[in-house]
Amino acid sequence: MTFADRRLLCAADDVAPGAMLRVQPEGLDPILVCNVDGKLYAVDDECTHAIASLSEGRLQGNIVFCPMHGGSFDVCSGKAKSLPCKQSLRTWPIEVSDGKVYLVR
Ligand code: FES
Repeated sequence: MTFADRRLLCAADDVAPGAMLRVQPEGLDPILVCNVDGKLYAVDDECTHAIASLSEGRLQGNIVFCPMHGGSFDVCSGKAKSLPCKQSLRTWPIEVSDGKVYLVR
């Protein structure tokens, strides 16, 4: 894999265990980086139910709760977990290298 195949999202220690961070890579929609028990995951930041930034919601374990209507998603799989959310979030492959988090294409 070449360096051009990946894009820097943030520093790994920008996202503490149990925390999440909204990042906006150039040319892409905002991505939510979540730390679940020390492991990082990346999903789309926008809720699939309506227009809301999941970064303004709450992360509990591997579940993110939308601030708008309280629907939820599993940030590891992207799957919708509670209504009114039905459609999964897009998940993004990431790689952590030298303390930095990269989106891998
Ligand atoms: Fe997220 Fe409605 S906008 S649950």
